[in-house]
Amino acid sequence: MKSNFKLQLLLIDRVGIIADVTGILVDYGLNILSMEVQVEGKFKFVYLETENEHPQFDQESFFTRVEQISGWRETRIINNLPQEKRERGYKVVLDSVSDGIISVDKDGVLTTINLMARQIIGIGDDIEVVGKNFKELGLSDSDLKNCILSKTIIRNTKNITTEKGRFQFLSCCKPIKDSKESVVGAVTIMKSVREIEDLAQALSQQSQISYSDILGKSRGIREAISLAQKIADSDAIVSIRGESGTGKELFARAIHIDSSRSRPFVPINCAALPESLLESELFGYVSGAFTGARKQGKPGLFEIAEDGTVFLDEIADMPLNVQAKILRVIQEKSVRRLGSTEEIAVNARISTATNRNLEMMVEKNQFREDLYYRINVLPIHIPPLRRRLDDIPLLAEHFLFRLNLKLVKNVQIITKTAIDKLYQHSWPGNVRELKNVIERAAIITDSNEVDEDCILFSFEAGKSRKEIKHDRNKFMKNRSLKDMLAIHEKHILQESMKKALSIRKTASLLNISHVTLLNKMKKHDIHVVKK
Ligand SMILES: Nc1ncnc2c1ncn2[C@@H]1O[C@H](COP(=O)(O)OP(=O)(O)O)[C@@H](O)[C@H]1O
Ligand SMILES: [Mg+2]
Repeated sequence: MKSNFKLQLLLIDRVGIIADVTGILVDYGLNILSMEVQVEGKFKFVYLETENEHPQFDQESFFTRVEQISGWRETRIINNLPQEKRERGYKVVLDSVSDGIISVDKDGVLTTINLMARQIIGIGDDIEVVGKNFKELGLSDSDLKNCILSKTIIRNTKNITTEKGRFQFLSCCKPIKDSKESVVGAVTIMKSVREIEDLAQALSQQSQISYSDILGKSRGIREAISLAQKIADSDAIVSIRGESGTGKELFARAIHIDSSRSRPFVPINCAALPESLLESELFGYVSGAFTGARKQGKPGLFEIAEDGTVFLDEIADMPLNVQAKILRVIQEKSVRRLGSTEEIAVNARISTATNRNLEMMVEKNQFREDLYYRINVLPIHIPPLRRRLDDIPLLAEHFLFRLNLKLVKNVQIITKTAIDKLYQHSWPGNVRELKNVIERAAIITDSNEVDEDCILFSFEAGKSRKEIKHDRNKFMKNRSLKDMLAIHEKHILQESMKKALSIRKTASLLNISHVTLLNKMKKHDIHVVKK
């Protein structure tokens, strides 16, 4: 019966000592399956795995013969050769990687497969596949073949259907070269598309937003951040003012994290909910409070946000009657659930945001004056994007980077002309609009750069890129000073109208007569927009 054993010999390093060892092995009919030699100083470690072919093999006598070799120091029976230990180490490393990894030799015969790759392809851990051809695994081997032939990296998106369902992954095949640069095989790395999506989502969800996520070098933004930092630690009510899309919620979240409140950030959009729902959301209710109420009652957001922050977004759109209740929560520092008389202490911080002109609303009795003074102690004003054009390149690059991660694209450059086009826009939707414009641009570009014809504002988005280019070329050709002034004039009028909201006020804002304004509006085809 054949038997194997593994040995470690410690010998003095001298010429011919390995030959002496192998001579003895031959004498005893031991076949060498694997051998490794390591030299350390004046010693040689020899590791052997042998197979014994003689039925009457005498181990004792064999060991004695080995001990007689000149320069012998020690013999040990071992369980694993160093190479086996290294391989096991590599396997642990490979198996802990979250990508699937398969390597093949140049004939497409599998040499390595890690745990993730097995899971992706649906091959159990116990099934031996090393040594089989890649094709036998039911995968297309065309990428690997191309990679080996062309000696270049090949990327592709792939689908496979296994017992566990359909699986989509990005594959990347890289050639393996020997020291003389000839290709001896290839390795394919498989990334699950699901996992990439999850990662991108986790990145874009940004649950832990801090000031460093608020980009901008303009004075307006820097000042807003520094004021936010000053009030974060206090318990003061935060009031964030700014047009839609300027980053009010971003600020509210950053302040929440900065205030080291351990508990949740609970946003509620006061404009989005009808009055009755808004109340029950904010204050909660007890069982049987109203028809349709849950049997066990429900805690309100002020309760849920204990030790956290309640973010009252669009607070100006809160009905007067709810405003009165909020005022009470602020004054009493407690809430009553609907249908209950029990007071529940509130220690949630309150943050508010609005894009409306609260002062004007107070004047018109649309917003409670007492509440206004309560919430507007230290307002943080975020300037609109058109007043901080300097921030555009920074923000645009940031959104591009994030989108690249999300779509696994590699759009790297925003050209100068594209940036110029961004500068010329008035940005009524502010940073949110810029984000959409950049995302749209990165999706439609077919190169690694965003050029001006990829920059589409919402009014252009329906047109084809060719049409827009044509429009613009036409526009550029006929550009006289008069035309350019007219464009600017129209822009100024539109913006002032938006601010002043009436013809009379616009005229006085621009210091022109009522009639002049009307004529100019007619010339530029501008209409009064009622809010
Ligand atoms: N300064 C900024 N830096 C980075 N992203 C910003 C900035 N301002 C706004 N954003 C992004 O723009 C979008 C709109 O911001 P948001 O806070 O919802 O605006 P608002 O609440 O004022 O309407 C969000 O995706 C936000 O992350
Ligand atoms: Mg908002």
